[in-house]
Amino acid sequence: MSVKTQFPFFKKHPKVVYLDSASTSQRLGVSLKAEESYYLDFNANVHRGLYPLAEKATEKYEAVRETARQFLNAKSSSEIVFTRGATESLNIVAQGWGRKFLKQGDEIVLSVLEHHSNLVPWQMVAKETGAVLRFCPILSTGNLDYKSLEKLITKKTKIVTMTGLSNTLGTVIDLSVVLRFARKVGAKVCVDAAQLAAHFPIDVQKLDVDFLAFSGHKIYGPTGAGILYAKREILEEMDPWLGGGDMIREVHEEFSTWNETPWKFEAGTPNIAQIIGMGPAMKFLMKLGKNTVMRHDREMQEYMFKKLNELPFVKTYGPKSFDQHRACISFTVDGVHPHDVAAILGEIGICVRAGHHCTMPLMKSLCLVSTVRVSFGIYNTKEDVEALARGLKKVAKVFKLV
Ligand SMILES: Cc1ncc(COP(=O)(O)O)c(C=O)c1O
Repeated sequence: MSVKTQFPFFKKHPKVVYLDSASTSQRLGVSLKAEESYYLDFNANVHRGLYPLAEKATEKYEAVRETARQFLNAKSSSEIVFTRGATESLNIVAQGWGRKFLKQGDEIVLSVLEHHSNLVPWQMVAKETGAVLRFCPILSTGNLDYKSLEKLITKKTKIVTMTGLSNTLGTVIDLSVVLRFARKVGAKVCVDAAQLAAHFPIDVQKLDVDFLAFSGHKIYGPTGAGILYAKREILEEMDPWLGGGDMIREVHEEFSTWNETPWKFEAGTPNIAQIIGMGPAMKFLMKLGKNTVMRHDREMQEYMFKKLNELPFVKTYGPKSFDQHRACISFTVDGVHPHDVAAILGEIGICVRAGHHCTMPLMKSLCLVSTVRVSFGIYNTKEDVEALARGLKKVAKVFKLV
């Protein structure tokens, strides 16, 4: 069975050229079925009911925690917190860990590549605690400036929080280097794996990372579900961020005590169906294997670069080698606003993203306001790349560039 046939969207929309998977991927049929099955076959709340349906819902929900443990090779499923997505996961780290452990003058090291979701929560916690944000720049190649990073990480650094794969430039971050620098000064490390998770295998034990966040909807699963991984001892010393049902052990009129980790971080009724739907997506990626994913990424990227480089009015950004650049390519078309490019492509069924991609500081450092971004999912084909090249020729014609 071809991979693309496992995505029902394309059966309904065979002509759509979907090149926006970094924004959100299309969903696997098995994920949709798992979600539907929850609603139709065992719909009940989790961790509450004592009747068989509720027990089944809890069992299926908790089984995804074990799948996520395997997906990340975490030591224990108690290190897996279910969230609504990477953004919520990163806010839990900033609010639950940062607010408790950061103080005046402590430093938080990030890169200029960060998505707003791994920046704004840290700005908020810095404002509250008096901690200071420090940004690692990039080189003109689009790679992280590791020399600057080494200098930037000092005894004042309490946490280094960084994307593993840039959602705008496709820059691959050498996380082992980041970890090495951070460990020298005893700083914690948080990885924003929102883009990484669909393209690279992740081994949190090998990496020895403290926190890692990603979303189900970028790994071919449903929206509204995500993961926060954190080492158990860290989760235990953190404060919960959201208060409410299920995250408590005892509630008194004036105070409460907390449930065990990871449930201490899962207040209220969770997105049960979506979390259950995320399980098959992680299984799909594990079954597919890193070599298949990497081969496909390489094929897409090299062909896309080749086709874009044939168009003299197109300028691409980011590192040029596959080892340093994955999953998406940002570009501009001479004299044409990226929104116009995306709108013309959209009219002929080609879906690309245009804008600042939630990385405004990065855009500023590149002296750009926006770019067009194409990003790949496992279902993309060379025909999609060719359709994009034809579409860009049409853009060039409309704007009389050729
Ligand atoms: C690198 C990166 N981090 C975080 C996020 C936020 O993910 P979500 O909107 O699923 O919470 C995104 C989304 O595009 C991203 O690309």
